[in-house]
Amino acid sequence: MLPSDAAASDITATSEWAALARHARELQAGGVDLAALSEADPDRPGRCTSTAGQLVIDWSRHLVTDTTVELLLALAERAGVAARIEAMLGGEPVNVTDGRAVLHTALRAPAGEAVVTGGVDVAPAIAAEHERMGAFVRALRSGERRGATDLPIRTVVNIGIGGSQLGPAMAHEALAAFRSGGIECRFVSNIDPAALAAGLDGLDPAETLFIVVSKGFATAETLANARAARTWAASVLGLKAAGQHFVAVTASRDEAVEFGIEPDNVFATWDWVGGRFSMGSAAGLAVMTAIGEENFAAMLAGMRTIDEHVAAGPAASIPMLLGLLSVWYRNFWGFQTRAVVPYSERLRLFPVWLQQVIMESNGKRIRLDGSPVGCETAEIVWGGVGTDSQHSFHQLLHQGTTVVPADFIVLARADADVAGLPGAAERHEALVANCFAQAAALAFGTPAAEDDPHRELPGNRPSTVVMAPELTPSVLGQLVALYEHQTVMQGAVWGINSFDQFGVELGKTLADAIVDDLQAGTAPTDTDTDHDPSTKSLLAHYERLREG
Ligand code: F6P
Repeated sequence: MLPSDAAASDITATSEWAALARHARELQAGGVDLAALSEADPDRPGRCTSTAGQLVIDWSRHLVTDTTVELLLALAERAGVAARIEAMLGGEPVNVTDGRAVLHTALRAPAGEAVVTGGVDVAPAIAAEHERMGAFVRALRSGERRGATDLPIRTVVNIGIGGSQLGPAMAHEALAAFRSGGIECRFVSNIDPAALAAGLDGLDPAETLFIVVSKGFATAETLANARAARTWAASVLGLKAAGQHFVAVTASRDEAVEFGIEPDNVFATWDWVGGRFSMGSAAGLAVMTAIGEENFAAMLAGMRTIDEHVAAGPAASIPMLLGLLSVWYRNFWGFQTRAVVPYSERLRLFPVWLQQVIMESNGKRIRLDGSPVGCETAEIVWGGVGTDSQHSFHQLLHQGTTVVPADFIVLARADADVAGLPGAAERHEALVANCFAQAAALAFGTPAAEDDPHRELPGNRPSTVVMAPELTPSVLGQLVALYEHQTVMQGAVWGINSFDQFGVELGKTLADAIVDDLQAGTAPTDTDTDHDPSTKSLLAHYERLREG
């Protein structure tokens, strides 16, 4: 029996759920107050600060008591969360709707450790692919691998979308201080021609290499951009030579070869690595190109640190706790969203990456057994970088009518490459101070009753502060795995499949039908039944506008 069977039962019908609902009502009726909780228990900040790897996580400003945490852990036990994680780590086909294992953790498993799924140890294939990536990157960075006209490669353009772009682009930006080797990396995802135009701006095809990343090698945006890039390269180099400037990362090798990628230039990923969890696979080839093999390995090691923390069991698991806190707010407080605010310029893409991880994973309404889930699932994730966000949306966080639990991420030291700039230490301290101040202001509000209600901040608004010493490859890996695991744990509580994404398919099919009409240049007639009336109306207006 898969542990998913346990999770497939209706968690909202359990006594554990009812106990939490009762407890939430009591806290809400009693006006649970962060200031009072803090005053009553001077040890609270210490007791409610956990470590996982190098991450220090302060969750003392949450609307929880010791009882809440006990009840949440009991809920997780009833939902079979630990067993489900064990099944995932053990290579069982926990992605039941696609009939696949979910083994992104195998990408960062200790060297030599067997990871068996479907009776096959996948560890040797992963090690071999990491080795191929390393050899490729070494050759590229040393200039041994050159373009068709024997010029060295100066720019790598990653063409991919969703999980084939968000994680790698985020890591590339986050680890700017660790870039070396002189090869610039760019990321192109959108089918909007402006995206590729920006990606190619100023480049010479003879010195440019394209990495086409697509697990399925069927994604319209990626294939359209890859074709356009090939045409661009071929216009200077000729079609055959342009082929030498393309490599692919895919689980669909035949499709990549059919597209025209040389078989030796195809790097493998596998159907048991979900796109949004694929940063540690060859999907990270551009990142490895930018930061080098050792730093890439350090990022994987950072992820492994958190995997090991999780594997040690649920009682002290901080991703488990954070996942449960989001269940607490979503299901028992009715909070709909979660703001993620890194106080780190270079983590500015972190919320964007996390949106796919959480919302594509847990934006589901059907349980594993096919029945409606019966409660709210994934929160809406949004955010932006601090301190900029303080001057845009924090007003709503402090005084708006909706409560938004917030995650603040902050580093104790400035990025290594900027730490020596004049005044950098002071500015970094100001950055950290702003982060701490926001968490305090949200929790405790204006200190004394203000005469003017317009100036009053109610406080009592929850937040987590995640702190790390410095934004190193290892720390980034730890942050990534911290959020990946929370996401999986949330989904396990709700008894949903966090690993499929059927919700995105209908739009793709409809777009295909519409693009056919647009390209045929035929305005739909009244009797046309291919499109709904509103789409037909839009098409008619579009035709008129397009003609000018
Ligand atoms: O948005 C749907 C999706 O399938 C994502 O899950 C995935 O990350 C993205 O498209 C790209 O898919 P592929 O890597 O197959 O091109």
